[in-house]
Amino acid sequence: MQKFKTVEELVGKVQPVGPVYCIRPNSIKTACSWFKSNFPGKVLYAIKTNPNEKVVKLVGDSGIENFDVASINEIKLIKKLFPNSRAYYMNTVKSREHIREAYFNYNIKDFALDTKEELQKIIESTENAKDLNLFIRVSISNEHAEIDLSQKFGALPSEALGLLRLAKGYAKKVGLSFHAGSQCMHPISYAKGIRDLGNIIRKTKITPDIINVGGGFPSIYPDLHPQPLENYIGEIKKAFDNLKLENKPELICEPGRALVAESGSSIVKVVLRKKQKLYINDGTYGSLFDAGVPNFVLPTKMIPNGRLVSKKLTSYSLYGPTCDSIDYMKGPFILPNNLKEGDYIEIGQLGAYSLTFRTKFNGFYSDQIFEVQDKPIMSMYEKDSASSYLVA
Ligand SMILES: Cc1ncc(COP(=O)(O)O)c(C=O)c1O
Repeated sequence: MQKFKTVEELVGKVQPVGPVYCIRPNSIKTACSWFKSNFPGKVLYAIKTNPNEKVVKLVGDSGIENFDVASINEIKLIKKLFPNSRAYYMNTVKSREHIREAYFNYNIKDFALDTKEELQKIIESTENAKDLNLFIRVSISNEHAEIDLSQKFGALPSEALGLLRLAKGYAKKVGLSFHAGSQCMHPISYAKGIRDLGNIIRKTKITPDIINVGGGFPSIYPDLHPQPLENYIGEIKKAFDNLKLENKPELICEPGRALVAESGSSIVKVVLRKKQKLYINDGTYGSLFDAGVPNFVLPTKMIPNGRLVSKKLTSYSLYGPTCDSIDYMKGPFILPNNLKEGDYIEIGQLGAYSLTFRTKFNGFYSDQIFEVQDKPIMSMYEKDSASSYLVA
């Protein structure tokens, strides 16, 4: 993969015609080592967030060698890159064929479920294996999350009681897990989730071997400024201690966004300007899904490429290259007011749920990926970065 010191150098040398995607290894290393040093337990990378091989290698080489996987293809990728790593199959809905392949061909022992039917599938597909670690995923309030996952996944706490008792009869180890929703904006959600698990533990009198507090840890966006990640860890530690369990379960988490969001950005080119509408060469069917329907406002900057960058800023909406009218990103995206056709823009915070969502719709697809060594436009891990963006 070709490397550049900065995005300005990249544009100067490559003059890209299509959109290009940038990976910042330093940002991934910083985020991974932060989680490794601060989370009081085991950290799994949720590989769905960004399965690019370079990114996964960087995460693994930064010391996070456990992975949350959702499909057999994610398992294959992990076992190719890190044959000795441990992958946890945390999708609560899996086909019998994939459970079987995961267990017998890839030595996967950790499985999540939220129904009796899934438990039965796991038991039957592994031919009554005695070495399974079974996680009951419990649905908790996702009220503080930007993306709610609680309606699709998780057993109600009342259903989880029976599931935990049942699973205990089959598993070598049992776990209880939850997900507070993606981009969870308040650390209290984790404390509440752990309290919900505490009620299940009290009622069943079963102490799980493992408690999994999921992903959901936030990144930073121009209009989403979460509390420092230290506060999330603090709430988790306090709530975990308050369970006052004699045999302490192992604690695990499975962040995605917080590990990689800052590491990725796209460099796009303006194809046409209509007043405050910029038609660009990438969109929601490309690397900018999150800026579309979920309406994440993303940080942007103009890359001069020999042009004067006006100090006067204005707000734009962005339109992608396909013929679909939902290929539209409301923003607001704050950029110099002199932007015109041919100008380059960097769009930041695209390391999570971006590369992996690209489609070939309308024939627009770019796989030009470069490494850059400059700092991300915004960062949770570098305090000055976030505030300097706001001042600008
Ligand atoms: C089971 C599971 N774990 C972890 C994650 C990662 O979540 P996030 O990127 O919000 O940290 C997801 C996201 O969908 C998930 O479904």
